[in-house]
Amino acid sequence: GKKMTEVRDLVEEMVGTEVLIRGRLETYRHKSSKLGFMMLRQNGFKVQCVATQSEETKVSVNMIKFLKQLSSESFVDVIGVVVLPKEPVKASTQKVEIQVRKAYCLNNGFPQLPLLVENAARSEADLKAGKAGADQYTRLNNRVIDLRTPANQAIFRIEGHVFFAFIEFLISKRFVPIFTPKLIAGSSEGGSAVFKLDYFGQPACLAQSPQLHKQMAICGDFGRVFVVGSVFRAEDSFTHRHPMKHGHLCEFVGLDVEMEIQMHYSEIMDLVDELFVFIFTKLNERGNEELEAVREQYPFEPLKFLPKTLRLTFAEGIQMLKDAGVEVDPLGDLNTETERKLGQLVLEKYNTEFYMLHRFPAAVRPFYTMPCGDDPRYSNSFDVFLRGEEIISGAQRIHILEFLEERAGECGIDLKTLETYIDAFRYGAPPHGGFGVGLERVVMLFCALNNIRKTSLFPRDPQRLAP
Ligand code: 4AD
Repeated sequence: GKKMTEVRDLVEEMVGTEVLIRGRLETYRHKSSKLGFMMLRQNGFKVQCVATQSEETKVSVNMIKFLKQLSSESFVDVIGVVVLPKEPVKASTQKVEIQVRKAYCLNNGFPQLPLLVENAARSEADLKAGKAGADQYTRLNNRVIDLRTPANQAIFRIEGHVFFAFIEFLISKRFVPIFTPKLIAGSSEGGSAVFKLDYFGQPACLAQSPQLHKQMAICGDFGRVFVVGSVFRAEDSFTHRHPMKHGHLCEFVGLDVEMEIQMHYSEIMDLVDELFVFIFTKLNERGNEELEAVREQYPFEPLKFLPKTLRLTFAEGIQMLKDAGVEVDPLGDLNTETERKLGQLVLEKYNTEFYMLHRFPAAVRPFYTMPCGDDPRYSNSFDVFLRGEEIISGAQRIHILEFLEERAGECGIDLKTLETYIDAFRYGAPPHGGFGVGLERVVMLFCALNNIRKTSLFPRDPQRLAP
């Protein structure tokens, strides 16, 4: 009948009191028939539990024998007294340790584990010091065990903070949360990167983005909407030669926004600015403990960002690259390499790792993007970069029916699958625009992680459909 205490809540103020805790047995060190050390882990927090045979603790030699044969990762309930360790315990996340009185195991023995959490949790420094590690492939194959590391526990809680701050901010600005269909008739972004499927005899596909339906919701008079949900991309850029292309998944979490605008696409950029300064600030406040846990395994510097986000035009970006000796097509697109390079130049010149680039060439944007009024070679569009990589793309959309049909034609879009989308503009649409964010990219780059699979709970790539 004793109430459980969570491992994360074990603090110095509790010294001297008896507690009941539950955790997984990460490691057991057997010193002698009279002394054993358990490292118990719960949700990424760890505490050392010491079992000594003595008059005072009433722990028997048999109990220590019992602890010795437990499989690692077993669930163990421990009743014990909170004490201060003689010296800090390195692997523990808590300042206190537990003097064991009683221990109960909740499982039977396991077969040998395919992955040890200890090994999955190694930092670069641990590995350099010669400790056994685990490669990413093995870790992803055994993701359920891999997820138990303190860094992974933290990464997905950080994702939760971003998700929550995104919603919190938008709801406060009267945006309406909507849910758009993931089964749709055709490509929404143009191009061939779609998963095709058979919908009762009719060709269909998994939505590449909520683009079409979030715009149709605007035509349905919701004014401002947002969507959080799975987005599917049959990333054809993956090849067997580049199986680990680092920023791309075949399924990711999209955070999408669409809104009416008064007159200019800068209104959308203003929202991105406010929203992301809010998200980063909240993340640093609410997610401080988790960020620290990520840093323990994957060290990184805090993100440099400005209270008012820097905006550069695409042409200015091209000029900066040119001045640095990098030649890029002024009416073409950037690639991963030139984006990184520009990120470095921006950091040197403006001391920020978060900025927006706008007025992209129209030719490199989807058909629904509004061209610039003063020069149709460019468009009212933008990308947002975090540590040199794209996390957001957005734009003002074409809201005039005839113009939309014309642009779709010019872009070689098959209008058959877009009929009802085009119809939405037939009966009047307001000027509007929006943007899409990739959640896994935001967290990957905020924490300067080297692979997007680290921020996807169960990542999907061309070579992985399980677990
Ligand atoms: O740049 P994308 O393709 O833009 C759209 O989907 C538009 N409908 C957005 C809009 O409202 N105009 O995707 C938006 C974001 C990217 O900036 C990136 O963060 C993420 O989605 N993203 C991916 N994340 C992981 N894996 C992939 N394969 C991704 N493709 C895009």
